[in-house]
Amino acid sequence: MSQQAKALLTKMTREEKVSLCGGKDVWHLTGIERLNLPEIMMTDGPHGLRKQKTKSDTIGLHHSVKATCFPTASLLASTWDPALIKKMGQALGEESLEEDVSVLLGPGANIKRHPFCGRNFEYFSEDPLLSGKLASAWIKGVQSTGVGASLKHYVANNQETSRMVVDAIIDERTLHELYLKSFEIAVKEAQPKTVMCAYNKVNGTYLAEHKKLLQTTLKDSWKHKGIVVTDWGANNDRVKGIIAGQELEMPSSHGVGQKELLKALDTNQLDESLLDTRVERIIDLILAAKETLAKDHEPCDFPLHHNLAQKIAAEGMVLLKNEENVLPISPNQSVALIGEFAKEPRYQGSGSSLINPKKLTNAFTAFEAVCNSKFIYARGYDHKTDKIEEHFINEAVQTAKQADVVVLMVGLTDDYESEGFDRTHLSLPDNHIALLEAVSQVHDKVIVTLSNGAPVTMPWKEQVKGILEQYLAGEASGEALSDVIFGKVNPSGKLAETFPNDAKELLADQHFPGSPRQVQYREGLFIGYRYYDSINQDPLYPFGFGLSYTTFDIQDVAIHQTKKDIKISLAITNTGNCFGKETIQVYIGKEKSNVYRPKKTLKGFKKIAIESSKTKKVTLTIPIKDLAIYNDGSSKVESGSYTVYVGTSSRDIAYQQEITISTQTTIKKDKASNYKTITKHFKPTTEDFEALLEKPIPPVQSIKPFSMNSTLKEVKTTFIGKRFYKLVKENMLKHLNQSSDEGTRDMMTRMLDGIPLRSLVLFSQGKLSQKRVKGLIDLMNKKVFRGLYKVIIG
Ligand code: BGC
Repeated sequence: MSQQAKALLTKMTREEKVSLCGGKDVWHLTGIERLNLPEIMMTDGPHGLRKQKTKSDTIGLHHSVKATCFPTASLLASTWDPALIKKMGQALGEESLEEDVSVLLGPGANIKRHPFCGRNFEYFSEDPLLSGKLASAWIKGVQSTGVGASLKHYVANNQETSRMVVDAIIDERTLHELYLKSFEIAVKEAQPKTVMCAYNKVNGTYLAEHKKLLQTTLKDSWKHKGIVVTDWGANNDRVKGIIAGQELEMPSSHGVGQKELLKALDTNQLDESLLDTRVERIIDLILAAKETLAKDHEPCDFPLHHNLAQKIAAEGMVLLKNEENVLPISPNQSVALIGEFAKEPRYQGSGSSLINPKKLTNAFTAFEAVCNSKFIYARGYDHKTDKIEEHFINEAVQTAKQADVVVLMVGLTDDYESEGFDRTHLSLPDNHIALLEAVSQVHDKVIVTLSNGAPVTMPWKEQVKGILEQYLAGEASGEALSDVIFGKVNPSGKLAETFPNDAKELLADQHFPGSPRQVQYREGLFIGYRYYDSINQDPLYPFGFGLSYTTFDIQDVAIHQTKKDIKISLAITNTGNCFGKETIQVYIGKEKSNVYRPKKTLKGFKKIAIESSKTKKVTLTIPIKDLAIYNDGSSKVESGSYTVYVGTSSRDIAYQQEITISTQTTIKKDKASNYKTITKHFKPTTEDFEALLEKPIPPVQSIKPFSMNSTLKEVKTTFIGKRFYKLVKENMLKHLNQSSDEGTRDMMTRMLDGIPLRSLVLFSQGKLSQKRVKGLIDLMNKKVFRGLYKVIIG
């Protein structure tokens, strides 16, 4: 910690110290005027700046200042390009500076356990290496401007259902190798100024007070120097939180948290020297922010940022199918652009990441500029409903018949995926499918473009010639789409997640989202490609996959080992007739082992740009320590033979070779024998999972008696709870009606069920006291007199 922070600490009263450990309001830290510590601002994140200037709320209901809306993380990850993501981070930092924001809340480094997670659009990948590297790049970019980042949501926030109360039961190895790994890489490589702890519990304890994960893992082992901030409303027990390794509670608890800390100091439950170590970190954060805010900076170049958003969007779009080279479309072909997304683009996700875009463009205007008179359009569907409307479809069919080629824009609408709730299936809306079926029957050159934050199933795949996954591509999505469709940009995106044929075939599907209070990660390490590769089954589209308008050839692969590293060198040639980019991916597996292992896991990647007919030499270096598994309490590399796979996707392997690694470590044998040779029929039983956990599965916490952690859905079953729920809902809708669209209102109503009573105190911004809520809980638990007393004096 800095000397300056230490010196300031000595001048503080206890009251001042505890005041720093809680927010002043929704977005500001508490400052101390007499010590010249300003009230610095943190705000969302992660694909743009969401600074609310007037009214504040945590879920994006009220308008924020205009800012560049970059593509969301699913697309960013498909670029496989840390350098590009770093540039975006820098632009985000510059926009934060422009608005005097000191910490930008992002990036989201949670692993995509299941495509149903409603918030997957905000996360990078199913693979921790890719996710960790891209999160690092994002943080480095933002922090290069002096603005802090907030790596979130630490950890295992892999679903929205019951996110505020659910207990994720995960075996230690899976937790370390998959879910923590992504955060570990980002913390060690980029030192984010803040880490945001998640709402959920892991193995019985809320993250906000998880000593093992906050103090032991994050602070002691990974050496994180910044602060831990609670996700908005994630604090459970203020004193336990501080003891466990958390610093800052957000948003403001309106004095409740501070009182609890003071009481704990008075009763010696909390040691002042421990509190001091937490407060010093907060002072450091404020001092650094103060220095940044005092510096002059260049005015933000918004047009440049828009161009960057366009470039990233085009780089991350993934060409999934291109039969008979239907793409790129040549300028002399006539084009029918079909689908309302062309005029009403779906370019970002809903919830706390909602950006008010600076310059929103669309595909319609971008296509018009390229095609001139050879361009016709039909709406195809109403993007506000799933209802199949024949008149739209008939018009689209007639329009399609008049053109040489059809670009059909479909995907998921806002009410299919969002923060706050999970998906229940992977299909497109009925009206999008009906349109696709009808148009593909009358035209044999249909190119489907998909706007969605996470995988969809494609039973219609064979009916169309081209498929382009454009994800949620940000404010310049239309221009970027046009760049790819007409060949100005050769697509080079690669999937950072597996697209399943059907959600049911995923091993994690059997336990997603679990019961409201517990979710068991019985699949262990078998998510995404780790699972498909191990059962040797083809997904719809594999991890790492993406086509190009050119072709590549890999030759001369050679593998050299040193004591520390594995070096893979190769030559790659662009054998087609246009400039292009290819991503070399290195996976490593180990057949014989003391522990169960997925067939192979990603250990290195590099994106290479090459002119047509040119060859480039490429070297990738993989530290041997990266082959470590988590075994018996620490990371260890097992001795023996490994297979190195070099390719361009998890399924397109150009070269493989055995290597031998010698280490002195002993790997304890695991007891998970049924995980060793799995087939697609494997369904982990209770015994199987307990063998992974090395202990019995904990019992599911009972819902009664009601407590501060009971959700609105749970208390709704009582007479008082039902009325309270109604009141909260009416109040919320009253707010929403002033400034939000239908989608936001719908999302909020769906989110309401999962909110625990403890968070309502915070979200009410002081209107609902903790005492009154406790009184209501007593009443619901039939403690009538006690309850009435608290409600009345509340
Ligand atoms: C989200 C965070 C977000 C915070 C502040 C929470 O509900 O989970 O990602 O940063 O709100 O808006």
